[in-house]
Amino acid sequence: MTGAERHREAEDANRLWWDNLARVHVRSYKEVQLLREGKEVLDEIELREVGDVRGKSLLHLQCHVGTDTLAWARKGAIVTGVDFSAESIACAEQLRGELGLKATFIHSNVYDLPSLLSMEFDIVYASRGVLCWLRDLHEWASIVSRFLCPGGIFYLLESHPILCALEEDVHGVLSFANPYFHLTEATRWEAGGGDYSDPSHTVEHPSYEWTWALSDVVNALIGAGLGLQFLNEYDHLFFKLFPGMVSEDDRHYRLAQYPRMLPLLFTLRAQKR
Ligand SMILES: C[S@@+](CC[C@H](N)C(=O)[O-])C[C@H]1O[C@@H](n2cnc3c(N)ncnc32)[C@H](O)[C@@H]1O
Repeated sequence: MTGAERHREAEDANRLWWDNLARVHVRSYKEVQLLREGKEVLDEIELREVGDVRGKSLLHLQCHVGTDTLAWARKGAIVTGVDFSAESIACAEQLRGELGLKATFIHSNVYDLPSLLSMEFDIVYASRGVLCWLRDLHEWASIVSRFLCPGGIFYLLESHPILCALEEDVHGVLSFANPYFHLTEATRWEAGGGDYSDPSHTVEHPSYEWTWALSDVVNALIGAGLGLQFLNEYDHLFFKLFPGMVSEDDRHYRLAQYPRMLPLLFTLRAQKR
């Protein structure tokens, strides 16, 4: 099997993995409840860093069940969400109907999107657990650039890649367990563990993840013709990655034993020239 064939096989497995989790996440994501209650779903950081979206067109890549897409729609953006999981898109469309919001959802692999969609957007947005599913960061960055109008911005909010290198022991002590730098082959995670959002749900399929260093992300975007406007790092995360993480508000999780010692989240904004 060639490398490209292995990548495709890993992507197919991931699609099945996400299809099986979409409805679980509609039940377990606190963002769904927040949307239903008319409360804020988006983080204060992205609201500040993206800025006013009223009347702007926004393309959300890897939108999953559409919670963030619909939250941006509520802020006045004209939104299009894209995901390769048909079940995720079906859930997003159902939520859109239930909430009475306007949004276009497209069922597509990010890598196939240029053959399906021809328009350009003011904002391309991706957030919270997107990079590890991407087999080719250069192709992804060229697609981000392809969908931006001149002067348009790309915004990313993502867990810090250093976290992929670490594991936590029962005492909350972190150690280096995996390479930080990119490996050509995806890492396979076996079925049988608990889902990240609903630990009581046993995941039935294996999944494959790619690791990308922070420099890979920045250089891919620069290589695709975008100008970096900022890159920020934060000491909290949007989910409880390690059991020892603590949270005061059930939304921002910190490593109590390592206060301000490690970046847990990064954001970046880049502009198409
Ligand atoms: C963690 S979720 C995205 C984050 C979203 N903010 C959330 O937490 O609901 C990852 C999403 O990426 C999608 N995905 C993974 N690889 C993809 C690809 N190549 N093209 C399109 N969607 C993809 C999955 O189907 C899944 O819905």
